[in-house]
Amino acid sequence: MKDIKILAIESSCDETAAAVIQNGREVLSNVISSQIDLHTLYGGVVPELASRKHIENINPVICQALADAELTLDEIDGIGVTYGPGLVGALLVGVAEAKAIAYAKKLPLIGVHHIEGHVCANLIEHPELEPPFLCLIVSGGHTHLAMMEDYGNFRILGRTRDDAAGEAFDKVARAIGLGYPGGPKIEKAAREGDPRAIDFPRGKVDGSPYDFSFSGMKSAVLNYLNHAAMTGEAVCQADVAASFQQAVVEVLVERAVGAAVELGQDKLVLAGGVAANGALRNALAEACRKHGICCYYPSPIYCTDNAAMIGVAAHYHYIRGERASWDLNAIPHLQLT
Ligand code: KG4
Ligand code: ZN
Repeated sequence: MKDIKILAIESSCDETAAAVIQNGREVLSNVISSQIDLHTLYGGVVPELASRKHIENINPVICQALADAELTLDEIDGIGVTYGPGLVGALLVGVAEAKAIAYAKKLPLIGVHHIEGHVCANLIEHPELEPPFLCLIVSGGHTHLAMMEDYGNFRILGRTRDDAAGEAFDKVARAIGLGYPGGPKIEKAAREGDPRAIDFPRGKVDGSPYDFSFSGMKSAVLNYLNHAAMTGEAVCQADVAASFQQAVVEVLVERAVGAAVELGQDKLVLAGGVAANGALRNALAEACRKHGICCYYPSPIYCTDNAAMIGVAAHYHYIRGERASWDLNAIPHLQLT
């Protein structure tokens, strides 16, 4: 059978990325151009600057992805692209580029949901993993507990009622002076701190065991800092980072593993940028082991925004004949269904 090669493009936030995926799970190339240094100057992602950087970077990144895969566009079978959710101006760069290539080369165009991509990142290194499975999706914009029933088919069981987990990491990092990008900086600072030093609340949503709430935890950190400033007490940055991280990890693990047990699911898949967090990975793996659940998470390079994950998701749409039309648009608040 002929190999299927998908060229995938991702530009939903602050990484310009392109990849070539063969037969669904084989990564022939994976190129990521990060804008972290640029946005660090402003303490967070500046949407207009992100769009402008994507415009500059997208062609070189795609050329590099094709060169690394030792392929030309003539050998590509389809173009996959993230069309939401994300920053509209950033998404539009990838969508317009994908449409132009697909139209010029008469190739099928496949629109991919960014979060579906994050979940599919797990398929790259776990060839035996097939849906249905339970997923804990933790990113900068999303915190979902969902069943992936089939490729491209999700059933949401619970979601955050306020901040996403990654957003809470970013806000707390800013408050304790660690800056952007918050998640990795909190994780690093936490290694030197005591996770039991401060008892931050474990946010719950009454009556909704699968939902999350992180704004209370974030406020508790802010209150702790304000109180210390007023009383002149010294604040140990590492202890705050470790205690906050511990609170978030406990809540995520307890909800996700609790859902797996209750629903009789024996596979639990972690996805999204926060899935790179070592404390979360270890705690989830340990809790899963205790309950006889197989725990999956991607290597850090596939947790960050990347196009390989988009290519994997696109492949499964491609083989089912699902195509986007030429009016494919960027949808900043695209829902996961
Ligand atoms: O998945 P992603 O790139 O964004 C969305 O798709 O929304 O995730 C980015 C988020 C940021 O909030 C970042 O702080 C967080 O993931 N993050 C982490 C870590 N690495 C990235 N959070 C905790 N620990 C990390 N090591
Ligand atoms: Zn992402």
